[in-house]
Amino acid sequence: MSVNIFCYKIQQFYGGKGCFFFEGLYQQVNRQALAPFFRPWLHRKGLVLDAGSGSGHLAEAMGLSNACFLDFTWEQIKRCQDKGSPGRFIRSDIQQLPFQDNIFDEIICSNVLHYTGSAGLKELIRVTKSGGQLLLSFLESSELTHTGTNLAVFWGMFPQLMRDARLIDLEELDQPNIQILDSATVVFLPPFFQASRKLPRQGLVAYALKKLGKPTSTPNIKIHND
Ligand SMILES: C[S@@+](CC[C@H](N)C(=O)[O-])C[C@H]1O[C@@H](n2cnc3c(N)ncnc32)[C@H](O)[C@@H]1O
Repeated sequence: MSVNIFCYKIQQFYGGKGCFFFEGLYQQVNRQALAPFFRPWLHRKGLVLDAGSGSGHLAEAMGLSNACFLDFTWEQIKRCQDKGSPGRFIRSDIQQLPFQDNIFDEIICSNVLHYTGSAGLKELIRVTKSGGQLLLSFLESSELTHTGTNLAVFWGMFPQLMRDARLIDLEELDQPNIQILDSATVVFLPPFFQASRKLPRQGLVAYALKKLGKPTSTPNIKIHND
């Protein structure tokens, strides 16, 4: 499937009403596993981007206000705004962010990068300041995760579009300007989701990353388009 058709399907799905089941699921994953894991790494200083914010579950669970909330669909952004989240709201594609390089002090991005693959990861790294942090969760690309994803689609637990998900190979995090600060795998230990530091990293994984390099000062935020 071409990237454009896949993007169109994502927008149709998340811009429509078909995602309410997942809203609930992601709210739980964010609240129970991701927010407790990411919270100690979030400094809340400077400019924070919630990339693929959806309706803002992760920011909400982390008590983060005044971020820059960015999503593919206005419908998700509207839900975020309706919750009273302060901050900036931007409709854009993570794969082509309308920001200059090295602008954000911190980026949070949960459950999104498996829709963009490395194109999204690259962009998030580009717009993070040197010395800044990226708190990411995504489905990695092991055989087990591929099989699990396909089964979940078959049983109707995941939307059809997940069949074409571009799961991220963990080796892509092995970059000279990236330091891995911490990592975990999200596991379901009934009745709750938890972030487990036990290896191996398979399925939905969470990473706290630091972008290395010479620290940069905060330039004024420039948005080229919306
Ligand atoms: C599974 S939801 C996760 C939402 C939120 N981060 C959370 O964990 O609750 C995926 C979100 O990513 C957005 N998304 C998917 N691909 C995107 C892209 N290329 N650019 C921006 N947003 C994207 C969708 O619109 C949707 O709101």
